[in-house]
Amino acid sequence: MPTFESMKAIVTGGTSGIGLATARLLHARGASVVMVDVKSADDAPNDERAIFLPANLAQPDECAAVVAKSATALRGLNALVNSAGIQRYGKADETSLELWNEVMAVNLNAAFLMAKHCIPHFRQSASAAIVNVGSAQSHGSQQGAVAYVTSKHALLGLTRALAVDYAAEGIRTNCVCPGTVDTPMWRWSVSRDPNPQAMIDACVSLHPIGRVGQSEEIAESIAYLLSEQASFVNGIAFDVDGGLTALIGGAPKEKK
Ligand SMILES: NC(=O)c1ccc[n+]([C@@H]2O[C@H](COP(=O)([O-])OP(=O)(O)OC[C@H]3O[C@@H](n4cnc5c(N)ncnc54)[C@H](O)[C@@H]3O)[C@@H](O)[C@H]2O)c1
Repeated sequence: MPTFESMKAIVTGGTSGIGLATARLLHARGASVVMVDVKSADDAPNDERAIFLPANLAQPDECAAVVAKSATALRGLNALVNSAGIQRYGKADETSLELWNEVMAVNLNAAFLMAKHCIPHFRQSASAAIVNVGSAQSHGSQQGAVAYVTSKHALLGLTRALAVDYAAEGIRTNCVCPGTVDTPMWRWSVSRDPNPQAMIDACVSLHPIGRVGQSEEIAESIAYLLSEQASFVNGIAFDVDGGLTALIGGAPKEKK
């Protein structure tokens, strides 16, 4: 088990779902963590090693400001988890440029800007790591989610570009790609369906493991990718999806 005591991490989207579970796990292992989010959470860790900084990451100047504040608060930075994200629905002809830009601002531009502003701080550290939270939708596409799907595919491109540009400076970048995870974001999606239970059942059936994931399971993978245990892992899409993207349909129900 690696020790996280020297880790000084920013977790965006750190007060809900996957980001909150990640902040809790890193903190529990000894890391110092800044949780950056538009909203606070009563159940987030809160002590001298766990700090909440509010920011709307859709605003580029707020990305720059919150990195500077985080570096001051933690006296340096060597880890970044880009988990902040929003889900919006619509096919291309139904999607306004405004909605497209809203999704890109949070899911893609903020990840780029947070990395951009963290890198000068990371250079002061012997090693550093970035984990972007992509999705199974970094590989394939649900129907009617053009902006979200495009943003998650682009996050893989960002991951690979950062990975090849900064590895020689000791900065690794990887992307974790979750399947369906039971978080407030997924519950919001389920609530939009006229038959929420049917949507839950459909999501479960997509995962060969027979259930959706939990935030803590994604957090474990993020912690691994940040850790020294993953010191030779760089530029990958790490699927944590219960076999979702391994599955294709078409087999007969009866094999005889
Ligand atoms: N839940 C899933 O099934 C699933 C699957 C694959 C990938 N993901 C990805 O995982 C990440 C985390 O999602 P989650 O399911 O934990 O969702 P969530 O809604 O529980 O958490 C997302 C967090 O991002 C924050 N956020 C949104 N816009 C922001 C902004 N402008 N500035 C700052 N913070 C902002 C929200 O306030 C929230 O706390 C997202 O990038 C999402 O796309 C989720």
